[in-house]
Amino acid sequence: MKRPLMRAARALLLAGALLAGACCTARAATISIACSGVGQELEFCKGAAEIWARKTGNEVKIITPPNDASERLALYQQLLSAGSDRVDVLQIDVIWPGLLGSHLLDLRPYAKGAQQQHFPGFIANNTSHGRLVAMPWFANAGLLFYRSDLLQKYGQQVPETWDALTASARTIQDAERAAGNERMWGYVWQGRAYEGLSCNALEWVVSHDGGSIVEADGRISIDNPRAELALQTAAAWVGRITPAAVLNYAEEESRGVFQAGNAVFMRNWPYAWALAQAEGSAIRGKVGVAVLPKGGDEGRHAATLGGESLAVSKYSLHPAAAADLVLYMTSAAVQKDRALRGSFNPTISALYRDAEILHANPFMGELLGAFTSAVARPTSATGVRYNQVSHQFWNAAHDALSGRATPAQALARLETSLKRLSRRGTWR
Ligand code: GLC
Repeated sequence: MKRPLMRAARALLLAGALLAGACCTARAATISIACSGVGQELEFCKGAAEIWARKTGNEVKIITPPNDASERLALYQQLLSAGSDRVDVLQIDVIWPGLLGSHLLDLRPYAKGAQQQHFPGFIANNTSHGRLVAMPWFANAGLLFYRSDLLQKYGQQVPETWDALTASARTIQDAERAAGNERMWGYVWQGRAYEGLSCNALEWVVSHDGGSIVEADGRISIDNPRAELALQTAAAWVGRITPAAVLNYAEEESRGVFQAGNAVFMRNWPYAWALAQAEGSAIRGKVGVAVLPKGGDEGRHAATLGGESLAVSKYSLHPAAAADLVLYMTSAAVQKDRALRGSFNPTISALYRDAEILHANPFMGELLGAFTSAVARPTSATGVRYNQVSHQFWNAAHDALSGRATPAQALARLETSLKRLSRRGTWR
């Protein structure tokens, strides 16, 4: 090659190297985000993350952990305790900030006050040792979905008590089966041995005024006659108005049965509304949403508080970009879109005055009280041992539902093992 040509080639190479350098000093990053995939969750998470990537010149990589909350927690614990940088942003359950907080970044310096738009209770929940370890993304509360067309056809009211639900479910199930729909069931819910069963069983117990497993002062309260009655009531559904397969149902399995038109009632989270009402749904226009029934006239309506947040792993190599993604995904604009198209309840209070959101999801306005008075699982009292408490609670409930133990036996055993776990009421 002649000298001037060589010089030109060298200059080109140098310019190329400089350009490549320029790309990286602009700090374009690939941010991996773990989103759950219940219903439309994954599609929505991916869509918003990709919009952020296009806007900022970064890239996103979507990771799909198991949908089952308990399995997802186990995976996160494995990744985080190994200090892995494989996941930058994690979708975390409302019950996990205390468990995972030490592995998560304090988002306050990045949020710059954005947290003030969110429900204060959610922010308090996501604050661990004074650090804001996750930004609230959507709120959940257990709801009763019902087939308004079938209640009307058989002259039934929306049930106020579990006994009324049991009777209506039975009447409609039997009549529909006699009319040829052999697959009809009365009531579907989440009965698999996992966190979702703890949510359902807590609702049964609280609605019967049977306490909330471990009380705020650390006292174990679960072995009591009202809790026993609550479990008896639920166990009596299995095989009668509820398919025995419910013992292996999580959220999506129960929604599958309800949305196919094969159940009168369903307990689920708000996301099920948008899907039930979607074009092509067999039950579109035939669904109502109500508070879950009371445990007898003396009991009360109870919904377990759920919900999800987005957090940044302390081991992320790109904390600033990851935090920026979290703030975008949890912003009012994205939460509004998720509410309109996916019936995900916002965590930003002003959005509950948004006419479009309330029109798309009437229950968000009508049942606001169910959300604001929803029952928290005993995470504050039991701290880092909550997951073990819940594990024992769902196993006890599962034993009672499957007939492996009577409700009385299951609760007595549970009380003993919780005492052992708490070292006589000291949880911390
Ligand atoms: C939903 C709720 C979460 C709960 C889980 C149980 O994901 O948001 O709080 O733990 O369901 O399955």
